Amino acid sequence: MTEARQRLALAGIESAGLEARLLVGHLLCMDSASVIAHGDRALSVEQAAAIRNLVAQRAAGRPIAYLLGQREFWSLPLRVDERCLIPRPETELLVERALERLPAQRARAIDLGTGSGAIILALVTERPQLEAWGSDASADALAVAADNARRLDLSVHWFRGRWLEAVAPRPLFDIIVSNPPYVDPSDPHLQHGDLRFEPRTALVAGDGGLADLATIAGQARARLYPGGWLLLEHGYDQGCAVRTLLTQHGYLKVASHRDPAGHERVTEGNCPG
Ligand SMILES: C[S@@+](CC[C@H](N)C(=O)[O-])C[C@H]1O[C@@H](n2cnc3c(N)ncnc32)[C@H](O)[C@@H]1O
Repeated sequence: MTEARQRLALAGIESAGLEARLLVGHLLCMDSASVIAHGDRALSVEQAAAIRNLVAQRAAGRPIAYLLGQREFWSLPLRVDERCLIPRPETELLVERALERLPAQRARAIDLGTGSGAIILALVTERPQLEAWGSDASADALAVAADNARRLDLSVHWFRGRWLEAVAPRPLFDIIVSNPPYVDPSDPHLQHGDLRFEPRTALVAGDGGLADLATIAGQARARLYPGGWLLLEHGYDQGCAVRTLLTQHGYLKVASHRDPAGHERVTEGNCPG
């Protein structure tokens, strides 16, 4: 334990103590309290080597969520690996807004670019009557999402393809949600932290990061019931551009919402009747 914490601290990992406990606990199948109480007990040679290996990968930057194979989102323990984006806490705002906009009666919703399935699985957990659909261009990501749904015993229809083309030409939806790639390919953040290890196709979009947001805004207009809602997550500085996109496509009641850090993070628009 002590050696793991020191190695991570030396590599500049901020929460070195916590991450060392998580990694050791993961390998020894122990919870955090047991690791604190017994983590420095004598380990077998194999266990010590396996822990050193995990710690070395983390020190080299590999995301803790991929090493643990899990990330919590909306209190759901989701399996994650290199095939999908690691769900971010700020994406919970998209779930909150979608729940606000879902009709009280039976409704149909789709999550475009579902990745691990985080958003649509959170929605169907809250609304078990929801007819839930999820799509992604990546067969690998869809396999992770379907596995998460199976483990959580939640029902979602999965489709592979580009945005709404995956489910063309029907049906219509009450709610379309998406957290698409929105990072400019030249953004220096791509060279830092977890982003270095996540699928590039989950992160970057052309046209300064706006290309996929624009495609979805265009496609969704014809696939929403009158009065239905499109809700998009976007970059912290893209609120104004996304409001403009939605207004240009004829959506009404266009508004952005701020994440807990105070950044405009989700923009929504209502389909005219
Ligand atoms: C930012 S990730 C979001 C993943 C997940 N929804 C989340 O919030 O954690 C974007 C997702 O869009 C998918 N994607 C990228 N281009 C796509 C396209 N043209 N059509 C459909 N999905 C696409 C990626 O495979 C990735 O899973």
